[in-house]
Amino acid sequence: MTDRPDIALEQRERCDARLSSPSAGRNKAVIAAALAELLPENAHVLEIASGTGEHALACVTARPDLSWTPSEPDAESRTSVDAWSADAGGRIAPCLACSTTEARWSDGLGPFDALFCANMIHIAPWEAAEGLFRGAAEVIVEGGLVCLYGPFQEGEATAPSNLDFDASLKARDPRWGVRALSDVDALAQGRGFEREARREMPANNLLLVYRKTAP
Ligand SMILES: C[S@@+](CC[C@H](N)C(=O)[O-])C[C@H]1O[C@@H](n2cnc3c(N)ncnc32)[C@H](O)[C@@H]1O
Repeated sequence: MTDRPDIALEQRERCDARLSSPSAGRNKAVIAAALAELLPENAHVLEIASGTGEHALACVTARPDLSWTPSEPDAESRTSVDAWSADAGGRIAPCLACSTTEARWSDGLGPFDALFCANMIHIAPWEAAEGLFRGAAEVIVEGGLVCLYGPFQEGEATAPSNLDFDASLKARDPRWGVRALSDVDALAQGRGFEREARREMPANNLLLVYRKTAP
């Protein structure tokens, strides 16, 4: 399903070039509603790991003032993103081929007011999270946002389903795993981002909002 053996994709169904992810179908409305409250007016948003492209379309539908730049390392997924984007009236740019594990993935991009990434940093090596914040520091304007959606570990407060998920991820690839919120906060701080919101989302997911406080 992917031309990149080093990346993992969620379960999907096909309708012409557009792929549908059952999980994106379940969470796209709540994600779009939450981001609609958080993102500044007329924001230029970079999405990392756009997947099928369903989140991009839901977000610009909820907030018609947004300009959205999706990105995906997987070629078939990029085709799907561009197919969904055809319904967005030109407010979603052609999908870029970004992989945050590549050293210079952010070169020539931006500036953006916000970066959004759902469900990627647990199903990729930690270097993908490191690369995400390294690039975000380059392309996000001062005062801009990084918004991460997905499961996280919070010590003893971690949901049992997320502990089970962590074990299943590590069984598939020991470099993967549900990340500790404290580790992500520390990574963000090291790149000049402070967490200012932690929003609980359905199915024991979180929407984390980091603001760039350093130039
Ligand atoms: C579980 S899917 C999530 C897709 C979508 N964001 C969603 O929530 O439906 C993980 C995605 O991360 C992408 N991915 C994996 N490693 C990546 C990396 N280093 N940089 C950017 N995207 C990556 C995969 O291609 C895949 O589309």
